[in-house]
Amino acid sequence: MSSSSIDSVLTETRSFAPPEEFARAARVRSLAEYEELYAKAERDPEAFWAEVAGELQWAKPWTRVLDWSLPDAKWFIGGRLNASVSCVDRHAQGARKNKAAILFEGEPGDTRVITYGQLHREVCRAANALTALGVKPGEFVAIYMPMIPEAAIAMLACARIGAPHTVVFGGFSAEALRDRIDDCQAKAVITADGGWRRGAVIPLKDNVDAAIDGTTVSKVVVVRRCNNDIAWKDGRDVWWHDIIDAASAKHEALAHDSEHPLFSLYTSGTTGKPKGILHSTGGYLTNAAYTSKLVFDLRDDDVFWCTADIGWVTGHSYVVYGPLANGATVLMYEGAPNAPRSSAFTSGHATGIGLDRFWDIIERWGVTVFYTAPTAIRAFMKWGDQHPAAHDLSSLRLLGSVGEPINPEAWMWYRKTIGGDRCPIVDTWWQTETGAIMISPLPGATPTKPGSATRPLPGIAVDVVNKDGQPVPAGSGGFLVIKRPWPSMLRTIWGDHERFTKTYFGEIDGVYFAGDGARRDEDGYYWIMGRVDDVINVAGHRLSTMEVESALVSHPKVAEAAVVGRPDEMKGQAIVAFVTPRSGFVADEILGKELREHVVKEIGALARPEEIRFAEALPKTRSGKIMRRLLREVASGSKARGDTTTLEDQGVLEKLAQSFDKEE
Ligand code: PRX
Repeated sequence: MSSSSIDSVLTETRSFAPPEEFARAARVRSLAEYEELYAKAERDPEAFWAEVAGELQWAKPWTRVLDWSLPDAKWFIGGRLNASVSCVDRHAQGARKNKAAILFEGEPGDTRVITYGQLHREVCRAANALTALGVKPGEFVAIYMPMIPEAAIAMLACARIGAPHTVVFGGFSAEALRDRIDDCQAKAVITADGGWRRGAVIPLKDNVDAAIDGTTVSKVVVVRRCNNDIAWKDGRDVWWHDIIDAASAKHEALAHDSEHPLFSLYTSGTTGKPKGILHSTGGYLTNAAYTSKLVFDLRDDDVFWCTADIGWVTGHSYVVYGPLANGATVLMYEGAPNAPRSSAFTSGHATGIGLDRFWDIIERWGVTVFYTAPTAIRAFMKWGDQHPAAHDLSSLRLLGSVGEPINPEAWMWYRKTIGGDRCPIVDTWWQTETGAIMISPLPGATPTKPGSATRPLPGIAVDVVNKDGQPVPAGSGGFLVIKRPWPSMLRTIWGDHERFTKTYFGEIDGVYFAGDGARRDEDGYYWIMGRVDDVINVAGHRLSTMEVESALVSHPKVAEAAVVGRPDEMKGQAIVAFVTPRSGFVADEILGKELREHVVKEIGALARPEEIRFAEALPKTRSGKIMRRLLREVASGSKARGDTTTLEDQGVLEKLAQSFDKEE
């Protein structure tokens, strides 16, 4: 870890006690209560997790809580359950039958309310329909959808029949979708004709068509959303509404083994190939439900809005599984934060240019808990206070942040301008691999410090250690590790158990290594300092520099490429690519544009390099390793200069190169 990242951590000494009114009604009401709960979990972790898991609906109880043989954990052994029963049936069959499960607003402004009773019928229909299409337990189904209720219904239907889903974010390209389908050998894809984004249609079905030739996919289910023209392949493509309408709303859910895979979700690691993070049914659902209840302090009258797309783990755990397991009402919004409602849905009232869309949604739906990413918060700050000020946000009682470090300035703005100095903020640290929140304040108990995710949740044993696994003193930087297994830890990387072992348990002896640097202060508060590997975080989206490099070098005009992240005020990090063209090709803006488009085609718009710098050669160590650290400094040290910049001052670079040569 470079010392500069340690120095760059902002230590904000100010601390905010949980608002009294909030604390009075909260589940955990004081720091002492949190500490008591934490100590209880430490004394007997298995008994603690057994109690937590007991809140799910099990068809058959487990015989043993944990089987741990590093790096392999099995939880609730012998237990059987169906995730969709815990999330839907038990509410639909009880007092919450007519309670809203999903409140939906499309980008144009169309709305739907789906009760638990209706959700149950839809999930049962979809489960029957998927079975009729030939999807079998254990076979993967890819879901490539906009943020519409059918996405959640599809996930729950897959869970119901024991077919693990792999949701691919709708912003990923056809190529990226194909890679993921190939890796898990998906049998079917559930998609939509399109999805709305800033008034335009994202051509999801076209992308699926381009992705699946020659793959294992034999069925494509298409939800009609945008009514855009799409190609159709008889025998392979079916309309969602046709198969759902034809299916029975009765479906007996079989109970699956606690360790049965619930889903895999691809995320970026340090190599070019994304990895399929595999999660189990019982363990995953235990932590998703537990954290939703504790961190968001969910109550029956809450309207919980997590703005993440279901293509990311945050959408899995806090749009679908966690809140629904608690019988909560979630809000799903399809589109961009700066898209106005179309006049067809505004009873003639102009809605401006849409920079207030989120606040408009919060006001109209009475959102009480709002969970979003620092990049979005920074964008809202930039757009100006007049947009939230134009709306009544008094329904809000709790705010959350996730996905990247939140700078204290954005934290303070969030608290004051959105939370009216009244709502606690939970800055939640976790990862695709952890399945659920690991470090976070409990909103009624933990005094918060802007920029710190504060303390680990009860049951989660974290530490900051050096390379040898020794804890570092308070205030020093080190590696963030988790010392004991937890129910929702990833079980493997799909198809590559060796990579799983090496990546997460091979770096530091005996513990799970998260890939993040952190510091713990004198109060035991954790300050996350960001990744210490070649993973970068662009606008809360996790990308690997190698993945972007692989995309670049697959272009015929590129000889070599190196990609680094540079700090970016808005997005956290921005992608800078250093490229050496093959001889005979001119390094100019046209090539820069071509390469950007190529990366978008290979991965998706989220990976588009912010800046491409052409270089005759890349700086390397004597052993031929590209000196990324040097490139990072070059990328962040000087102003953006456009595509045609070369690594001009080779003399200086060489000198620097020599000094780094010794280090790397
Ligand atoms: O670097 C950490 C950062 O996001 C990474 C995990 O990314 P992903 O698997 O895509 O999951 C994102 C949503 C959970 C982490 O390794 N990260 C996540 N939350 C925080 C964070 N960094 C600082 N503070 C956070 N609250």
